[in-house]
Amino acid sequence: MKGLKFISTGRSIPEKVVTNDDMSRIVDTSDEWIRTRTGIHQRHFCEQEDAASLAIGAARQALERSGISPAEIGVCVAATVTPQHASPANACLIQAALGLEEDTPCFDISAGCTGFLYGLEVVRGMLTISPKRYALLVGGEELSRVMDMTDRSTCVLFGDGAGAAVVTLEEGALWAATLGTRGNAEILSVDAVGRAPSYIHVDGQGVYRFAVEVIPHCAKELLAQSGLTLDEVAWIVPHQANRRIVETAAKRLHLDMEKFFLNIDRYGNTSAASIPIALDEMAQQGLLQKGQKVMAIAFGAGLTWGGALFQW
Ligand SMILES: CC(C)(COP(=O)(O)OP(=O)(O)OC[C@H]1O[C@@H](n2cnc3c(N)ncnc32)[C@H](O)[C@@H]1OP(=O)(O)O)[C@@H](O)C(=O)NCCC(=O)NCCS
Repeated sequence: MKGLKFISTGRSIPEKVVTNDDMSRIVDTSDEWIRTRTGIHQRHFCEQEDAASLAIGAARQALERSGISPAEIGVCVAATVTPQHASPANACLIQAALGLEEDTPCFDISAGCTGFLYGLEVVRGMLTISPKRYALLVGGEELSRVMDMTDRSTCVLFGDGAGAAVVTLEEGALWAATLGTRGNAEILSVDAVGRAPSYIHVDGQGVYRFAVEVIPHCAKELLAQSGLTLDEVAWIVPHQANRRIVETAAKRLHLDMEKFFLNIDRYGNTSAASIPIALDEMAQQGLLQKGQKVMAIAFGAGLTWGGALFQW
């Protein structure tokens, strides 16, 4: 069994901070409502930046930190529901900006907020057929572009940002993964390109119910595959959609919140960027120690879900 090892991570966050008080000047809401219902205190929105510059910025930082040359990257995948263009892919823009070799497959994937975890399995497969050892994986979103700023039930939830990782395939590396979907476009969707206006639509309670079901499901599946117990897992890195979702899932798993990393207070829900931003923050803060076993679990439009278990 060959698993992925993380070599490095990176992130790129727009400069502009939008607080809950700022949102309350746009729609009929309050800091108190948003904090207590979601755990979000602020988010970042693009002004100078866009989907492309965020994805490229996160990818560049991860590549620079890896010490690996662009020529050694065998595949570049970008997960997003808000690409710069419907086509070409964000990954193609990254190829040009970072000088990845022209014979590198570069493409985007759409799996909602689960995109980065789908991407891990995609690059794990691609690396088995690549002549090169490393993959560059990015999750990046410019969700502020698809937010209906008159709909208070959705526009307070999301933020912009990108995260990235350089990974390699290693014989014997701990790896378990689970991916799935429920084929549902009613509970969570982003309008097609070319439909004006193009907005994100969320049935908040529908997502909530789905999320608190699939987080424990993914955790149990990863444990069953790996033969580990939750005690042996140092961190669970959940998709950052709502603090209460994570608290409910933690209760269902009989776990303390300490095992869960949360940064939703500062970023809101950044969809496919949420897991790689979290991993990068944890790595930079020294929270992730070499050898620790880590679970990442996400859910999102699709309705997709996914989990990955690996050793840092
Ligand atoms: C969206 C979410 C925070 C709503 O919380 P909730 O407790 O389910 O709240 P409800 O939707 O039942 O709304 C309760 C009330 O708050 C109101 N409300 C909704 N958004 C509001 C806001 N931003 N500010 C103030 N009031 C708001 C509603 O209009 C409703 O009022 P009513 O009772 O008078 O009709 C919650 O369902 C959630 O986070 N779901 C997950 C959504 C998500 O993250 N989706 C992204 C996909 S990964």
